[in-house]
Amino acid sequence: TKVALITGGYTGEAEVSYKSSEFVYSQLDKNKYQVYLIDITVEGWFYQDQEKVKHPIDKEDFSLNLNGTLVRFDVAFIILHGSPGEDGRLQGYFDMIGLPYTSCSALTSSLTMNKGYTKAILSDISELHLAKSVLLFESHRKDGVKLVEEKLTLPYFVKPNAGGSSIGMTKVKEATDLREALDRAFDAENTGKQVLVEEFVNGREFSQGIFRNSSGELIVLPATEVKTTREFFDFEAKYTAGLTEEITPADLNEEQQERAKQLIKEIYIRLNCKGMVRVDFFLEHGTDKFYFIEINTIPGQTPQSFIPQQVRAFGMSETMFYSELIEAALS
Ligand code: DAL
Ligand code: MG
Repeated sequence: TKVALITGGYTGEAEVSYKSSEFVYSQLDKNKYQVYLIDITVEGWFYQDQEKVKHPIDKEDFSLNLNGTLVRFDVAFIILHGSPGEDGRLQGYFDMIGLPYTSCSALTSSLTMNKGYTKAILSDISELHLAKSVLLFESHRKDGVKLVEEKLTLPYFVKPNAGGSSIGMTKVKEATDLREALDRAFDAENTGKQVLVEEFVNGREFSQGIFRNSSGELIVLPATEVKTTREFFDFEAKYTAGLTEEITPADLNEEQQERAKQLIKEIYIRLNCKGMVRVDFFLEHGTDKFYFIEINTIPGQTPQSFIPQQVRAFGMSETMFYSELIEAALS
């Protein structure tokens, strides 16, 4: 089976994608799969061989001419965070040329890249709570502060509505800091010029993966609790070892575990997900309510990321897990 392992991307998350794909590459079963790492960049789409020679991908059919030999892939394993690998653009293209892929569909990917729209779809799941929020479009930019203050109470999380890895995100504790935070989020590159402002939820933070295996069963992985010494789980905390304590499996009681499991399954089903996804939650102090933060359809696979930790805690090897994702995509 020839696998195109898709990495790179057009946003600030490209550097995360390179780390994720390097890890996935190292774990893939090379007896079973011929793996080609394909780098999707603004300058072009390339396969880079052992000698570091770049071979362009033919965008017409995603084939590769390797010194006269034509390589056609059987499946794309997408490990590209952000655009165009997580927002449905590559998925739509792969649909057009008939190449199976490991992730959610174009529609689901593009919907879930938009945090505000995703909340609207999930709003009728009882037991799943949503932080009060305001979605701002470019034309609201000037009046942004007023629109937020009319509806929400401090502190706020201000984030690019279609971003990832906390890039462009600020926790705002003082009213005077809101303007700058809005501008930072609006100006984050390639994130759609929309900003989501949410009320802070005082609780514990969790992240949990789920995937469909090659037999079609939905498997919920053990949750991870995130305890960071920083103000919130920002880019530094996400990708610097030691800044965050991550506890897998999380210390949740049986009832909470069961509730999280049902919620994540319901989210997966309602959003018509495919492959692996990861959902981030807060569990509010005092009320014990689960709040949905967001869903990631191309969750990080760096050695620090949650999914690899959860797969190991589940008692599965990463090699087996990635095989399952590929086989599910091919079935
Ligand atoms: N957006 C990053 C890669 C994650 O969700 O893990
Ligand atoms: Mg994310």
